Amino acid sequence: MSVKIIIEPLAERHLAQAAQLERECFSDPWSLEGLRAELTNPNARFLAAVSGEAMAGYLGLHAVCGEGYIANLAVAPAFRRQGVARALLRAGAEIAEKEKLEFLSLEVRTSNLPARRLYESEGYVHIGARPGFYTNPREDGEIYTKRFGGSL
Ligand SMILES: CC(C)(COP(=O)(O)OP(=O)(O)OC[C@H]1O[C@@H](n2cnc3c(N)ncnc32)[C@H](O)[C@@H]1OP(=O)(O)O)[C@@H](O)C(=O)NCCC(=O)NCCS
Repeated sequence: MSVKIIIEPLAERHLAQAAQLERECFSDPWSLEGLRAELTNPNARFLAAVSGEAMAGYLGLHAVCGEGYIANLAVAPAFRRQGVARALLRAGAEIAEKEKLEFLSLEVRTSNLPARRLYESEGYVHIGARPGFYTNPREDGEIYTKRFGGSL
């Protein structure tokens, strides 16, 4: 990790930058209101990676019935290739272990090789595809899952 970041729960003060990051990173970005709704969602475990006043990145995770789903992961262009996404994923994995989730699962665009390399290097296993999962542009989604012990 070559940049100093703090990882903390996503809060109201992060929302404007998180929405900006969504617009920079995705063709179908979450709105600020959509992100705000997660602050009161009992299933949401959203994390912000903060560097000084700047949001370097964030991770959105939902924990539902003992299973974890990563809804979004984004790192600001100026902070990329410095280990921010890996740190966020590891913080998500700590949550999975602490809450005894069975697994963390996510979808990623087939063409998103940087993200796929990241997930593979963090122990996520490719378990299948969802044809046409994404729009704008239409593309298949690849499903990756990392198993944790669960509560057994
Ligand atoms: C994918 C993304 C989250 C990676 O964030 P990051 O902070 O730059 O990633 P890290 O620095 O933690 O990289 C960890 C590993 O991921 C892989 N990786 C990351 N970016 C890569 C790239 N551009 N090309 C190839 N591999 C890459 C590498 O294996 C890297 O390890 P290394 O730097 O030791 O080689 C970031 O590029 C991003 O926000 N992209 C746009 C949004 C997005 O695609 N989100 C994922 C949606 S599923």
